[in-house]
Amino acid sequence: MKNDPKDPEHLFYSSWTFSKLMASFFLLMSISYLCYSLRFVSLSYHCNQTQNTHISITHVSNTTTATITTSQVLEQERATSKEQASEETNISHIVFGIGASTTLWNQRKEYIKLWWKPNEMRGTVWLEQKVETVSNDENLLPTLKVSEDTSRFKYNNSKGDRSAIRISRIVSETLRLGMKNVRWFVMGDDDTVFVTENLVKVLKKYDHNQFYYIGSSSESHLQNIYFSYNMAYGGGGFAISYPLALALEKIQDRCIQRYPTLYGSDDRIQACMAELGVPLTKERGFHQFDVHGDLFGLLAAHPLTPLVSLHHLDLVEPIFPDMSRVDALEQLKVPIKLDPAGIMQQSICYDSTHEWTISVSWGYVVQIFRGIFSAREMEMPARTFINWYQRADYTAYPFNTRPFSRNLCQMPFVYYLSDALYDKGENETMSFYFRTRENPDCNWTMADPNQIRMVEVRKKPDPHLWDKSPRRNCCRVQRTNGNGTMVIDVGECREDEVVEL
Ligand SMILES: *[C@@H]1O[C@H](CO)[C@@H](O)[C@H](O)[C@H]1NC(C)=O
Ligand SMILES: *[C@@H]1O[C@H](CO)[C@@H](O)[C@H](O)[C@H]1NC(C)=O
Ligand SMILES: *[C@@H]1O[C@H](CO)[C@@H](O)[C@H](O)[C@H]1NC(C)=O
Ligand SMILES: *[C@@H]1O[C@H](CO)[C@@H](O)[C@H](O)[C@H]1NC(C)=O
Ligand SMILES: *[C@@H]1O[C@H](CO)[C@@H](O)[C@H](O)[C@H]1NC(C)=O
Ligand SMILES: *[C@@H]1O[C@H](CO)[C@@H](O)[C@H](O)[C@H]1NC(C)=O
Repeated sequence: MKNDPKDPEHLFYSSWTFSKLMASFFLLMSISYLCYSLRFVSLSYHCNQTQNTHISITHVSNTTTATITTSQVLEQERATSKEQASEETNISHIVFGIGASTTLWNQRKEYIKLWWKPNEMRGTVWLEQKVETVSNDENLLPTLKVSEDTSRFKYNNSKGDRSAIRISRIVSETLRLGMKNVRWFVMGDDDTVFVTENLVKVLKKYDHNQFYYIGSSSESHLQNIYFSYNMAYGGGGFAISYPLALALEKIQDRCIQRYPTLYGSDDRIQACMAELGVPLTKERGFHQFDVHGDLFGLLAAHPLTPLVSLHHLDLVEPIFPDMSRVDALEQLKVPIKLDPAGIMQQSICYDSTHEWTISVSWGYVVQIFRGIFSAREMEMPARTFINWYQRADYTAYPFNTRPFSRNLCQMPFVYYLSDALYDKGENETMSFYFRTRENPDCNWTMADPNQIRMVEVRKKPDPHLWDKSPRRNCCRVQRTNGNGTMVIDVGECREDEVVEL
C-alpha cells in the first residue's frame, strides 16, 4: 500500500510537500524578483553579492533612499546594451571539429567546401590517416589533422566500429589545440552541411559561459530508443559550450573506458554528459536525417525553427531532381545568402479563384495542390521517404507525417527553385521556381494548374525572423500572368491574417 499513489495518506503527504514546495518556490521567486527590480533602481547594488546571504530590510531602505536621476539610468542602460551588442556571438567564436574518414575523403570533402568559409571560420577536420592534399583544395577546407591513436581504449560492440572512440575524442583534441576566444565547439561529420548563419543565430540565444549541449534527435523513433532521446546525433551536428568542453575534456578518456559496449561516438559523448549531469538542449534545425528516399516531404514542411544542418546526403536522393548531390546543395547557396533565416521556411495559402492550396518552402520548392487542404495537414511532412529500417511504417517517426497521395489528381504540382535575386529598390528577394516534371492526366473537372510553368515568390529578407516568437510567414497569391507565371508574396502575417478560405 505504501507505494500506491492512490493511498490517501500518500496523497495527503504529497500535497503537503507540494504546498511547502510551492511556498519555497514563491519565496525564492520574490527574492529574485526583488533583486531583479533593484537592478534598475540602484547603480551600485550587486545582486550576485547577496545571493548567499539573506536579503534584509536595510538593503531595501538603503537603495530606495538613494537618489539617482533618470538620465543616469538611461545612460547605464545604453552602456550595457552597447556592450552586449559587441559581445554577441558571431562565427569567429565557433570552432568546428569535423570527423572524417580517409577512405571517403575525396568524395566527402566536396560537402565541406559547400559551407566552409576559410577566412571567417575556424576548425579542423580529423582523419585517421594522413591524406594527400590537393593544391586546389588548400584554401577551401579547414585544417586537416590526424587523430591521436586510440588503440589503448576498450571497444566491445560487435556491430560498430572502434573509430567511434577517435571521433568521440574530437571535442577534447580540438580543445587541446588551445585556440583563443572560443565560445562553442561544433561537431559534425564529413557529410554534414551547415547553414552557419543559422547556427550562429541559434547559439547566440544561449549563454556560452554556462554548460550547454545542443543538438537534436533522430528522425527514427527506434534509433532514439536504441541510442537515446537524450543524445545529440553526431551527423546532425551538435554544439558544446566552452566551459562544458573543458569539463568534458577532464573526464573524457576515463569516461570512454566505462562504456566499451556502446556503438558510436555520439552515444559516448552522451554517456559522459549524463555523468556531468548535462541534458540535451534540443534545437530542431539540426538534421541527422536517419531516413532513406527523398527528403522532399521533410524539407517542404520544415518545423518553425532555423535550418541549421543537413546530413546523410549520400544516402538520400539529391534534394533537387536531375542534379548531382553536390550541385543540388549548391543550388541553396543563393537563397541562403539572400535570406538565411528564411531558408526552407514554409508558408501556406489558397488560390481562391481556382480552389488550390499552395505551400511555399522558401528557397526550395513551391507546391500547388488541387483542392483545399487545412494548414494542420499541410504543416505535416509528406512521406516521400521511408524510415531508417527501410520500412514504410508511419509509426516509425517521433513526429507527425501524412501520406503522399497516390491519387493522380491529388498529386501536387511541384516547382523547384531555379534562381533567386535581390531587388534593392524594393528591398525584396525574388525567387523563381519551375516545374521539372509533368503531372499525370487527371479527370477532375476542377481547374488544373498545368498551365502554370513558373512561380515567382517575392519576399522581404527578414534577418530578425528568429528574434520574434515563432510564427509561420503568410503567403498571398498576387496574380497569374498570361504566360503562365504565378506571382506569390511571402512575408509576416498582417493583422487578422490566417490560413483560411
Ligand atoms: C548604502 O549602503 C552601502 C553599503 O552597503 C553604502 O556604501 C552606501 O553609502 C549606502 N547608501 C546610502 C544612500 O545610504
Ligand atoms: C565577432 O565578435 C568579436 C567580439 O567578441 C569582434 O571583435 C569581431 O569583430 C566580430 N566578428 C565578426 C565577423 O562580426
Ligand atoms: C565483450 O565483453 C564480453 C564480456 O566482457 C565478452 O564476453 C565478449 O567476448 C566481448 N566482445 C568483444 C567483441 O570483445
Ligand atoms: C476518373 O478516373 C477514375 C479512374 O481513373 C475513375 O474511377 C473515375 O470514374 C473517373 N471519373 C470521371 C468523372 O470520369
Ligand atoms: C529590408 O526589410 C527588412 C524587413 O522589413 C528590414 O529588416 C531591413 O532592414 C530592410 N533592409 C533595407 C536595406 O532596407
Ligand atoms: C511573363 O510575363 C511577365 C510580364 O507579364 C514577365 O515579367 C515575365 O518575365 C514573363 N515570364 C516568362 C517566363 O516569360
